[in-house]
Amino acid sequence: MQVYPIGLTGLQERRCVVVGGGAVAQRKVAGLLAGGARVTVVSPALTVRLRRWAAAGRVLHVPRTYRPGDLAGAFLAIAASSDPAVNEAVWREAEGSGVLASCVDDPARSHFVAPAALRRGELVVSIATSGRSPALAAELKRMLGRAIGREHGKLVRLAGELRPRSGKLPRERSRAFARALLEGRVLPLLACGRDAAAKAEAEAILREIETGRPHRAADPPERTADRPPSGESGGVGTVCLVGAGPGDPGLITISGRECLERADVVIADRLVHPALLRYTRPGCEVVRREHHAGDFGSVCELMVERARQGQTVVRLQAGDPLLFARGGEELECLASRGIPVRVVPGVSSALAGPACAGIPLTDRRFSSSVALVTGHEAQANGGPGVAWDQLGRSPGTLVILMGLRNLPGLVQRLVEAGRPADTPAAVISNASLPEQRTVVSTLGRVVEEVRAARLDPPAVIVVGAVVALRERLGGAAGR
Ligand SMILES: C[S@@+](CC[C@H](N)C(=O)[O-])C[C@H]1O[C@@H](n2cnc3c(N)ncnc32)[C@H](O)[C@@H]1O
Repeated sequence: MQVYPIGLTGLQERRCVVVGGGAVAQRKVAGLLAGGARVTVVSPALTVRLRRWAAAGRVLHVPRTYRPGDLAGAFLAIAASSDPAVNEAVWREAEGSGVLASCVDDPARSHFVAPAALRRGELVVSIATSGRSPALAAELKRMLGRAIGREHGKLVRLAGELRPRSGKLPRERSRAFARALLEGRVLPLLACGRDAAAKAEAEAILREIETGRPHRAADPPERTADRPPSGESGGVGTVCLVGAGPGDPGLITISGRECLERADVVIADRLVHPALLRYTRPGCEVVRREHHAGDFGSVCELMVERARQGQTVVRLQAGDPLLFARGGEELECLASRGIPVRVVPGVSSALAGPACAGIPLTDRRFSSSVALVTGHEAQANGGPGVAWDQLGRSPGTLVILMGLRNLPGLVQRLVEAGRPADTPAAVISNASLPEQRTVVSTLGRVVEEVRAARLDPPAVIVVGAVVALRERLGGAAGR
């Protein structure tokens, strides 16, 4: 079967009918909605999501089986019922009334096949196997999705903004402009969220192509740091500081996962779950590095070196990269070398640990503030930064990271500073992972009980009245 690919426009003005309310119909409706269509679904029963869309007014639901005449006034129809007789009847009506129609999995009863579509804003990449293998199309879509990111969608928008000028160029120059947009610095700048700098760069390239005069790389307006020496900036890559979440690989963000899928090299912390590295594409280099092994400098040098080779670097850190991590210093190091950087926040263990144990950090009846502090011995032993005296007097919730080893010293400080020994306290180790364990106690007893339970790091300590809520909530929300 041969197909002629087209993209339908103006669907918001036209009635599109989907017959069927199951998972296949839902997929078809999702595709039509993404294309802006006005959708009617004819089916006695709907999936949960279709019901939600109907309740929200996103689709019109006709709650019964299909009847001839349901396609009246329709522009397009999709027969996705599980009953072949119904699909056949839909097809007959469509053929008889000139409605564009498709019976799913039945190319003989279809005017069109709906390709798998990868959408990045206004950029749509369609993959059609001429009806031969939708599963293969879906897999190809996944593979292309690794190479084509949200920045490509932004690039399409930017190219559209410049079209009044670039459209006047002769064909050869217009192609050269498109190539320069894809191969130069514009795309990496968009990938790291520096849209204004990307636009300035694209305009400079366009000027060069219009006038035939070479342009100087536009200085990104929001960054003042030195640019790398010329020659190094041409193919400069990007670095993304990505938060991996607290441990459970399901708790990385969608953006974080997309970054991993596009990375040439991933520099990962020890605490990062190995399953996350499966999101990388074949050939991606994975380097395990730790700052506290004294190699902060070498991590930064590695990121700079790889970015200057034009690579897409992901620095993957446990939790959030800017909380009790060295993300701030890494940003500074990269910015000072002119490397485009983007931060993809992560779910911090400071928030996820208590949540996974069923402990709300605030509750208007018990605590209206939270302090996140390090319990690392260097700071706890009088180092700068943690006002243990004030924290001892505060009625709010206290969350301590990196404090398991120094638990006796921390408890002593808090009690000396005024927190009563019967203040509820909990320690959650390996939060969000199958090996998560929680000890709920009081400041007076927690050291002994954690020792008896032999909790392993990493662990989060929570101190305050909210800990007692865990009992009242019946452990419903956590382990
Ligand atoms: C160097 S800090 C990194 C914190 C990280 N940036 C974050 O936002 O979660 C390491 C500390 O985070 C805490 N931590 C990280 N993952 C944890 C987990 N799954 N369960 C409990 N605590 C965790 C522990 O207190 C550990 O000592």
